[in-house]
Amino acid sequence: MQAHYGFAGFMGKRVHLGVCGSIAAYRALDLVRAFLDADCMVSATVTDAAARFVTPLSFEGLGASPVYTGMFDAATERESAFGHLEPGQTCEVMVIAPASANTIAKLANGLADDMLSCQALAFAGPKVVAPAMNPRMWANPVTRRNWDMLEKLGFIGVVPETGKVACGDTGTGRLAPVEEIFLAGLKALSPQDLNGKRVMVTLGPTREPWDAVRFWSNPSSGTMGACMAMAAYLRGAEVTVVAGPTALSFPSGMSVVQVQTAQQMNAACQDLWPSMDVACATAAVADFRPVLYGPDKFKKEQGDGLHVDFVPNPDILKGLGVSKQGYQRLIGFAAETRNIKSEASRKLKSKNLDLIAANDVSREGSGFGTATNQMYILDKAGRQESWPKLPKTEVAWRLWDHLLLD
Ligand code: C5P
Repeated sequence: MQAHYGFAGFMGKRVHLGVCGSIAAYRALDLVRAFLDADCMVSATVTDAAARFVTPLSFEGLGASPVYTGMFDAATERESAFGHLEPGQTCEVMVIAPASANTIAKLANGLADDMLSCQALAFAGPKVVAPAMNPRMWANPVTRRNWDMLEKLGFIGVVPETGKVACGDTGTGRLAPVEEIFLAGLKALSPQDLNGKRVMVTLGPTREPWDAVRFWSNPSSGTMGACMAMAAYLRGAEVTVVAGPTALSFPSGMSVVQVQTAQQMNAACQDLWPSMDVACATAAVADFRPVLYGPDKFKKEQGDGLHVDFVPNPDILKGLGVSKQGYQRLIGFAAETRNIKSEASRKLKSKNLDLIAANDVSREGSGFGTATNQMYILDKAGRQESWPKLPKTEVAWRLWDHLLLD
């Protein structure tokens, strides 16, 4: 899983996983891992059909506990005589993945003829459902009606993907990526304290072309920005990412504007900013761009005495600060190698920011391409904090906490 999905800190939260019969049942094992890595406790119910594909023992082996099977199975009975009620009493979220057409039909109609459907009926909390089935079963008007009913009833749907399915057919019915399902579960466990906020995040490097095949750039992976975007998304914000070229993927519920150059990023941000409540600038924008050699490739035979001229790029964040309205909040980042505190203070003022998060990129475990950062935080009110080295996901979570303290 990519680093920006690696949110931990859900200590003590309990997830109940329901697994139905599908060739995709084995992917539920990755879900167990993902939720355990996020510090959740995981229990599971494996339906009879699912147990034909993956054994309940595999779920136990990975750390799911308890693992329920049939209603009247001896092992399940040993755990509790009221196993069909237990997830509803102990867990904060139920995630059914993969969900078969059969189980979806039961959920939509209140049937309770096996352990999983009983547990779902007795579960009042949020229920995430991620279907997997043959495309013709998914397209069938009966399944469509059942699915619409689940949406009306407040189930959280993670729609299947389109592509080739196990039987060789092509169409919609493939289980959504594990990351998407995991994220839907985490969102259901997260405080929705950014609900209704429109948040824009710039991230990644920019790429400034010089000739037809060469460009000027930097090694930013975009991870810190992706963590900021993801944390805001989990906490209920409407998130738009303005991304330079990166290898990152984002959940389908997020808007992503892909750009290459600083000028393109600037245009996209200027365009979006008036409709945003918060902007967070984590992009490592190239401060200068080379003056274009031309539309062709510069040949190495021409290279004697080669020199490249640079011109300054717009400071995107500063531009947003100039037009910032009273209700808007602006967060900047600063990568420094010296005088962190004074540089942070200078940038906070000169760019009209509400909060700046600075880090010493010369330190090990801080900056480009790492999964951790060691931050110095300064806000407009003069509040300052030095944080220990933390995963970027944790830094992002704390920064949103900090902003909410306003
Ligand atoms: O001035 P400096 O580049 O150190 O400021 C860093 C902050 O400004 C970061 O938040 C970065 O995303 C933003 N920035 C920008 N446009 C630039 C340069 C930096 O938005 N051209």
